[in-house]
Amino acid sequence: MSHQTVIVLDFGGQYNQLIARRVRECGVYCEVKPYTTPLEQLKAMKPIGFIFTGGPNSVYDEKAPHVDPAIFELGVPVLGICYGCQLMAHTLGGQVTAAQEDTAREYGKTETYYDTTCKLFKGLPEQGISWMSHGDYMAKVPEGFALTARTDACPNVAIADEKRGFYGVQYHPEVNHTQHGVDMIRNFLYEVCGATGDWTMEDYKNTAIRDIREKVGDGKVLLALSGGVDSSVAAALLAEAVGKQLTCVFVDHGLMRKNEGDEVEAAFARWDINFVRVDAETRFLLKLAGEAEPERKRKIIGEEFIRVFEEEAKKIGRVDYLVQGTIYPDVIESGAGDAAVIKSHHNVGGLPDYVDFKEIIEPLRLLFKDEVRQLGRELGLPEYLVMRQPFPGPGLAIRVIGDLTKEKLDTLRDADAIYREEIAAAGEDKNINQYFAVLTNTRSVGVMGDGRTYDYTLALRAVTTSDFMTADWARIPYDVLDRISTRIVNEVKGINRIVYDITSKPPATIEWE
Ligand code: XMP
Repeated sequence: MSHQTVIVLDFGGQYNQLIARRVRECGVYCEVKPYTTPLEQLKAMKPIGFIFTGGPNSVYDEKAPHVDPAIFELGVPVLGICYGCQLMAHTLGGQVTAAQEDTAREYGKTETYYDTTCKLFKGLPEQGISWMSHGDYMAKVPEGFALTARTDACPNVAIADEKRGFYGVQYHPEVNHTQHGVDMIRNFLYEVCGATGDWTMEDYKNTAIRDIREKVGDGKVLLALSGGVDSSVAAALLAEAVGKQLTCVFVDHGLMRKNEGDEVEAAFARWDINFVRVDAETRFLLKLAGEAEPERKRKIIGEEFIRVFEEEAKKIGRVDYLVQGTIYPDVIESGAGDAAVIKSHHNVGGLPDYVDFKEIIEPLRLLFKDEVRQLGRELGLPEYLVMRQPFPGPGLAIRVIGDLTKEKLDTLRDADAIYREEIAAAGEDKNINQYFAVLTNTRSVGVMGDGRTYDYTLALRAVTTSDFMTADWARIPYDVLDRISTRIVNEVKGINRIVYDITSKPPATIEWE
């Protein structure tokens, strides 16, 4: 696959993936590379432009990350953002210092004035809000650079050497708070780097199909389908590419939401592939019986999933290729250190490496999540699969608190379905990134009709988040909550009380177990 490529050189800033997504949204392919990547390797990628990201350091710190100055001799345009801007100024002979109190340390939304004769701001308004986050100040800009944007406090929030194609901005054009920020990135790509916009999902699909066919020949391909977005899109792509040579093994562990198994199966009916649905509900419930501890539940499900999958793989016989739904954020090398294990996330896509196969195919490894969804649409997958919210591998097992029974799972399935239906009907699904019901193991007294009840409490969870690492609880309107509560208590046997979880993450996690 060859596309015009922009390299986002990562200096450890918090918005780096967002920069890459913005570039891709502009129709230009880009990759994020750590700043330590050798120059030869970067050159070999034949980039049409570099974007240097922000980062937590100051360029004058002893341990501050640097670039090989030869990068500025390649004749390739550079856009430096925040730290990236200061680094460029510093490397090319400017001077960067800590901002004094009376000079330009700026954070947050700032009124900014642009010189629209600069290519970066071509066709854009001369004034607008930009999102600042810098404590350093460019006391002297390098030779050849002009000042192209200012704020009331700072005369040089953007600099440019248009002859060499070097641009630097102290603010963050990639965040939504910066008005026309994406247009500035687009200007850099199209006006400066000569981008043609050759990154489209249709093109990606066609090329990927051609490449897969070439690679697979008449070999056999195996894919573990979980029903999640990534494995579903990978399956659709492979189905389109190699049809009957593909076997999708869909292990239905009985811990799916209402009708989910059938929906997944139906979505693949249009392709002539081998689709194996393994009904393993009894088997999983037997293994899980009496187990109330969340981490044990996860481990049991993970192991059992692999056992079932192996058995199916053996029946199919020698497989040449195994497909995995790895996506680009999993591939990007990040500078993040070892984080504490809060939960052992078991991704049902993670398969044993002793299945008998020759090679792994990862057809989504270049794509961001929103691109995976776009590709899914391009392949004709239904919207309910493509827009599916994340669903944990262990499924409803970690949403029934304490020990599991089929009855409890069915109760939760019915309640969860009503919750999802009402949220969608109210249009709230567009504002919420993940929402689900949890069957707690608390029972309380209620009164229904003239009788006493002693039933379970159901908790509703809904969060807004961009990365699922931190999350805020969603402000669902009271009248919507009211409708959900009334319907569930009336329609679902075994539940007589509904509570709404108003804890953010941290200190809570999104799931209850
Ligand atoms: P937590 O509960 O850790 O969840 O805040 C963060 C995100 O991860 C999902 N999640 C899982 N996904 N296997 C998965 O594949 C798991 O065991 C698992 N546990 C949590 C959760 O739904 C949320 O989107």
